Amino acid sequence: MKSNYKLDEWLIVEEGFHPEMNRESESIFSIGNGYMGQRANFEEQYSGDSLRGSYVAGVYYPDKTRVGWWKNGYPEYFAKVLNAPNWIGIDISVNGKEIDLATARIISFSRILNMKEGYLERSFKVYVSRNKTVEINTRRFLSMAEPDLGIIRYSVKSVDFSGKLDFTVYIDADVRNEDTNYGKKFWEEVGREVIAGSGVITTRTMKTDFHVATGMCFELKRNDKTDHVKPGIINRGKYIANTFSVHVEPGEQWTLYKYVSILSSLNNPKERLTDDIKLRLKEIKTKGYNKLFLSHIEEWEKIWATSDVVIEGDLSAQQAIRFSIFHLNQTYTGKDERLNIGPKGFTGEKYGGSTYWDTEAFGLPFFLKTADQKVGRNLLLYRYKHLEKSIANAEKLGFRNGAALYPMVTMNGEECHNEWEITFEEIHRNGAIAYAVYNYIRHTGDEDYMADYGLEVLIGISRFWSQRASFSENLKKYVILGVTGPNEYENNVNNNWYTNLLAVWTLSYTLKNIEILKEENPDKLKTVFGKINFNYPEETKRWSEILNNMHFPFDKKRQVFLQQDGFLDKQLVPAGRIPPAERPINQHWSWDRILRSCFIKQADVLQGLYFFEDQFDTETIKRNFDFYEPMTVHESSLSACIHSIIASRIGNIGKAYKLYLHTARLDLDDYNNEVSDGLHITSMAGTWLAIVEGFGGMRILDGKIQLNPLTPVKWKSYSFHARFRGVLFEVKVTRNDVYVNNLSEKPLQLVLCGKDYQIEGSKGLVVKWKVD
Ligand code: BGC
Repeated sequence: MKSNYKLDEWLIVEEGFHPEMNRESESIFSIGNGYMGQRANFEEQYSGDSLRGSYVAGVYYPDKTRVGWWKNGYPEYFAKVLNAPNWIGIDISVNGKEIDLATARIISFSRILNMKEGYLERSFKVYVSRNKTVEINTRRFLSMAEPDLGIIRYSVKSVDFSGKLDFTVYIDADVRNEDTNYGKKFWEEVGREVIAGSGVITTRTMKTDFHVATGMCFELKRNDKTDHVKPGIINRGKYIANTFSVHVEPGEQWTLYKYVSILSSLNNPKERLTDDIKLRLKEIKTKGYNKLFLSHIEEWEKIWATSDVVIEGDLSAQQAIRFSIFHLNQTYTGKDERLNIGPKGFTGEKYGGSTYWDTEAFGLPFFLKTADQKVGRNLLLYRYKHLEKSIANAEKLGFRNGAALYPMVTMNGEECHNEWEITFEEIHRNGAIAYAVYNYIRHTGDEDYMADYGLEVLIGISRFWSQRASFSENLKKYVILGVTGPNEYENNVNNNWYTNLLAVWTLSYTLKNIEILKEENPDKLKTVFGKINFNYPEETKRWSEILNNMHFPFDKKRQVFLQQDGFLDKQLVPAGRIPPAERPINQHWSWDRILRSCFIKQADVLQGLYFFEDQFDTETIKRNFDFYEPMTVHESSLSACIHSIIASRIGNIGKAYKLYLHTARLDLDDYNNEVSDGLHITSMAGTWLAIVEGFGGMRILDGKIQLNPLTPVKWKSYSFHARFRGVLFEVKVTRNDVYVNNLSEKPLQLVLCGKDYQIEGSKGLVVKWKVD
């Protein structure tokens, strides 16, 4: 574990240039606005190690899958979000010498991510030659107010010399993905235009034919006054630039404002992209930097006003939770139901920018509690619209009659990944998608969603479970064979407890909702049944049989649920015995050794206890936690958060706090030595849940909010905002009291420390939760 960044409430600060951790910092300091993302690459030339990454949401390429031994049913392609044309480029030479931080003599360097206002700043001073020093300050942001805009303010100051500065302001569309399977480039040029002061390149993705136009224009200031230059032009394949030179005197500063608009055929007609960009460039220039910056930070102000978490007494925890909230909001704004939350957002290539079960299990609960209802609804509609493709996915594997298997990895509803056993067998994701319907409705109270959309998805998934479960004559029980649970350090196991639990729950939840609709809306139910050719009640007979006779592996001696059949045959040793130099084990051990070991990558049985907590008593939860936590290595980012929430639930605040820091600072302190690939955006939602559901003890029970707070020893207080059925409220927990403020007009029903309350609109409540 390393700690490379300074602690601060609102900033992430890197001081001094560390080329060996440049890729990590490029991930940490990434910026985004839901439509685009940009790693913290340098504007100017950099010949050192770097992963260049600009991403446009929803624009992907279906790279042919790479696999050693092809098997039937295997996905044809691995979809990846593309490294898009590089829009940030500004090359600088001083007296003819190019600035390149890989070779320059650096006097000082800092990179700052301002999470409150949503921008990235970088400042450095370098010797250009003996006794000649240049100072560069850059700021850039991707506008939250006008999501096609990326803006850079780039200032170059001579500290002590007179000389010449050469600027090359460019867009480079000749880019590639590092993770391409067969070394291919994915972009073709459609057109390019460049004149003095502006230019646009339009490119298209091969196969998928997404068109993306990237346009730029700029302004220049000498000290604080607008200046004009006559730029030269570079116009060659996939590259356009404006070049100009200026004279600089000691103490003088030249500032370039580069305005970029990026439009894609996802939102604009292909044939109009270039013209639309030109219009946008005019509009942007008229507004100018200050106005655009102001409208951007106003959007961040709104986000923080309703989603900030404040922790008193623990700077490291405070910084980490804001880092999480910041990146989640940069990744997904919920305005477009075609977009989703990639596990690494727009911060790297790994996981292809695709959608995983992470969205339903982690992302959704965060957005349900912090954002407008339509944000959560859009996440659900994304899956609803993929139902047909999920049925096709299941058909490819031999399932019939409308059984739906949602993909583990997807861009457009089709399964698309490189792996076999691990990913393919993780059918548990289907359960998370069913659970999301339940979670959405209980949070929002939007009961109509069930009949309008939810039930079709639930029936598709239930049909899958019904066909996937088989009857074991030996056990006289239904079993689900050959799966991988959330713990990917076990493959092709039988009766993963979590998967079986989800299957049974889905069947019973679907049946329950059919019964409800039969009473409340029989006509609508008939329409749904007709639409999907549902043979009722015949089809459901087997469902009831399965759900009443499912096999759940259980250890009678220890009274714990077993992760899968045969788990006890393993040598059960605590992860504490693994020498620290061999952690993370996935970077040191053979896959064979990992599979044989008892070590658990991420919450598996505990993930089930988390989802269905109200089915189990505290003692059961505690026994299972005490059994599994010591063997869990938390090498998935989705693990420590769930363990932390459960530790809080069973009153083990010390452990809950330790696990909170693990989840919250996973990227900032690079626990798993992999931040260079990108950040763990979906696990950041887990960090937020570890505070709100963990320490705050927030639950939804019987249509009401419940709070049962605890406070980590180090914290003087913490506060958070949350939403429930149209009511926004704020909770502050101090060492003894809990304050709840209803920030809406509607009353809020809640159960606080076991007692019922109603807080009227704009009113508050204080209750003693702990007496010292
Ligand atoms: C985890 C999966 C997760 C994926 C993307 C893997 O390491 O084991 O559960 O879906 O990362 O976050």
